[in-house]
Amino acid sequence: MARDGAVYACQSCGAVQTRWTGQCPACGAWNTLVEELTSRPPGALKLTKPTRKAGLAFEGLDAETPAPPRIITGVDEWDRVCGGGVVPGSAILVGGDPGVGKSTLLLQVAASAARRGARCAYISGEEAIEQVRSRAHRMGLADAPVKLAAETALRAIVDGLKAEPFDLVVVDSIQTMWSDAHEAGPGSVTQVRAAAGELVRLAKKRGLAVILVGHVTKEGAIAGPRVVEHMVDAVFAFEGERGYPFRILRGAKNRFGATDEIGVFEMGDAGLAEVKNPSALFLDTSGERAAGAAVFAGIEGSRPVLVEIQALVAPSAYGTPRRAVVGWDSGRLAMILAVLEARCGLSFGDRDVYLNVAGGLRISEPAADLAAAAALASSAFDVALPQDCVVFGEISLSGEVRPVSRMDSRLKEAAKLGFRRAFAPADPESSALQVTGASRLADAIQRIHDGAWDKP
Ligand code: TYD
Ligand code: MG
Repeated sequence: MARDGAVYACQSCGAVQTRWTGQCPACGAWNTLVEELTSRPPGALKLTKPTRKAGLAFEGLDAETPAPPRIITGVDEWDRVCGGGVVPGSAILVGGDPGVGKSTLLLQVAASAARRGARCAYISGEEAIEQVRSRAHRMGLADAPVKLAAETALRAIVDGLKAEPFDLVVVDSIQTMWSDAHEAGPGSVTQVRAAAGELVRLAKKRGLAVILVGHVTKEGAIAGPRVVEHMVDAVFAFEGERGYPFRILRGAKNRFGATDEIGVFEMGDAGLAEVKNPSALFLDTSGERAAGAAVFAGIEGSRPVLVEIQALVAPSAYGTPRRAVVGWDSGRLAMILAVLEARCGLSFGDRDVYLNVAGGLRISEPAADLAAAAALASSAFDVALPQDCVVFGEISLSGEVRPVSRMDSRLKEAAKLGFRRAFAPADPESSALQVTGASRLADAIQRIHDGAWDKP
């Protein structure tokens, strides 16, 4: 039985139970329930009295709403993911693995916005002032008028933010903040939720944009409570593969913009550099393209991005052949292998299959199906695709190649980067590239097998 005022909060999903159990009844995770003391014993909740007159003030959908004003930070990749700058009074949660560069990114965002006239504060609960300052020096940001503070006590932070007018505040990180209204330790669900709630309220009330930094658990969720994700207006994930300098900011939720937008950065000695033309980064244009490689003309958010998809099909040494993917969905690979077997007569039953998206990018577009299939066939036949060819198209279970969205932008981007031809669904008319149409996957695979590109 719980002590008075104690509840058990799941550290994975944030669900609260009155009794301890080994498995969280809400999310099914094991050993995640931790006793937390709430400030008020359950049952003592006061019902708030209605203060205004009963009834709702309904309005029509067609009423004019002006577009929200925006704080343009000047870090274009960040502003684009936000949907055109940060909305005053909004709260943004930025999640990412430790060490991926969240603090670096947000210091740059705050410094750049401050240089453009926004009143910015950076509150660090993780690093001492000297550490933040020396990093700013190294990144050439020392002259930016950002107000720094090292603090973890929520009360002090809220008081400080009320005492002075600010436009934008970075709180790094939400897991280090604690409120003395709760007895639970810092980083616990109760504390994270309380701190986030308080800061979001402050943001709304004072028209201040608050950017919260959150660490990510091994499972990839923003550590601690999912509830924080519901409180904020936007959730961005900052991602990067180990061993690559590229970092990608990806919108997961955004009340003020599209969520499929990405921002691309490169980590260097002086912080993060914006990558304005990601295609050039993800594509290795030097040397011959090897068998098993296909260049996919993709779309990330509003931008076309060219990226190499690499496949390796090799005899399997074991009874159960291996299937491994990096940067792609393994379920999607299984589907493409099944379609290649059933509709094109290729057999992968006794072969290992590896599929890799170059440069650490992650692709979720179905338009990459044909590029993946072409890379797999190219490796299986040991026939290289033409050096100057891009591939895109969605594959159906019946073995057809379907048209995809924005084919024109894909072709134009490819032409801009020096590609001459495209292997694509039958439809697109293009003056920029010579398109080899493929409406059936079996015909496409046959072409790769024969190396027959120019035959009608
Ligand atoms: P950091 O922003 O502290 O990561 P996070 O806040 O997500 O934990 O970044 C830490 C890493 O970035 C660290 O491994 C060093 C690297 N880094 C650079 O390579 N160049 C730089 O200019 C900076 C500031 C950091
Ligand atoms: Mg940090």
